[in-house]
Amino acid sequence: MAKSALITGITGQDGAYLAKLLLDKGYQVYGLVARRSSDTRWRLRELGIEGDIQYLEGDLADGSSLQRALLKARPDEVYNLGAQSFVGSSWDQPIITGVVDGLGVTHLLEAIRQLSPDTRFYQASTSEMFGLIQAERQDENTPFYPRSPYGVAKLYGHWITVNYRESFKLHASSGILFNHESPLRGIEFVTRKVTDAAARIKLGKQKELRLGNIDAKRDWGFAGDYVEAMWLMLQQEQADDYVVATGITTTVRDMCELAFTHVGLNYRDHVVIDPQFFRPAEVDVLLGNPDKARAKLNWQAQTSLAQLIEMMVEADLRRVGRE
Ligand code: NAP
Ligand code: GDD
Repeated sequence: MAKSALITGITGQDGAYLAKLLLDKGYQVYGLVARRSSDTRWRLRELGIEGDIQYLEGDLADGSSLQRALLKARPDEVYNLGAQSFVGSSWDQPIITGVVDGLGVTHLLEAIRQLSPDTRFYQASTSEMFGLIQAERQDENTPFYPRSPYGVAKLYGHWITVNYRESFKLHASSGILFNHESPLRGIEFVTRKVTDAAARIKLGKQKELRLGNIDAKRDWGFAGDYVEAMWLMLQQEQADDYVVATGITTTVRDMCELAFTHVGLNYRDHVVIDPQFFRPAEVDVLLGNPDKARAKLNWQAQTSLAQLIEMMVEADLRRVGRE
């Protein structure tokens, strides 16, 4: 019989790629969708899978909606990708970030524990939990030091996942994923902001690009590669925690150079530093050590940053060209 999966955050970047991966593997895919006043399914449309998903209304802040979704879907696997995921907004909306990204995980784990304890669970944890880094390369044993309300909320979500695994023997895994991007990335995140701007400037629709701290360094990979790691974690006999990363770190500045060079421009002619994009506390550098994922999941990143940025710029050139 076909397996079934429930994905929270199915309308987001990772939700869309994961849904596609699972559909291709023959899963029946249920997606939890929070009520919004406008359409949020553009990514699922871009991947051509909008009509292949069973949608269930629910919100991570509303435990009763999660219980109903679980009872309807009766999933073999739950992937908890739903979150207020933009670090910058987490200082403006710290409470809802905590309710959704932190307590929301407990709502979902409680529903699984009480209604469907054999369901396997994936928690979307993050390298933001390392924050003010305590080791040059961060792995599963590196101490955490979050630097934003988002990072703090996600750390709670991570530990409650570990705790429910240890307390109730749930098959609950936490993927500590480093930054991953794609043509489906939200426009507020720096890579997509840059690739969209490079395309607009190239096509004469924008003149400058205003950015904050371009000396920050991130370990950037391709979202399409990273959802594979999520699935692999839930296929293991034992639930566990894994760092998922490329093992290479790059400055925002060098990432800009890749994007602008691809369209034949010099980023220095267009990038303007604007203090409004500086954060109250910054994560200066992230660099993951994915050795455990390589050894136990046989997973490794397939896409270089140069390939990723090229793919994103090309997609934005097509989009802007169609406008
Ligand atoms: P994303 O594009 O921002 O998607 C977030 C998803 O969460 C959207 O579908 C959103 O729905 C949904 N959501 C927001 N609030 C919700 C609520 N109250 N109840 C239910 N769903 C809600 O994020 P992403 O990049 O795909 O990331 C997926 C997950 O991985 C997130 O948990 C993120 O924190 C985590 N993560 C991401 C990265 C990365 O680099 N991308 C790295 C580490 C961890 P709407 O579309 O309706 O707003
Ligand atoms: N967004 C944004 N906009 N970031 C900028 C800008 C700008 O104009 N200028 C510089 N940056 C810097 C930020 O200060 C940060 O150091 C870096 O670019 C990356 O910012 P984002 O792309 O917003 O991502 P993030 O690293 O804060 O968070 C993402 O990755 C986390 C994993 O480490 C998100 O996807 C999180 O949800 C995820 O957990």
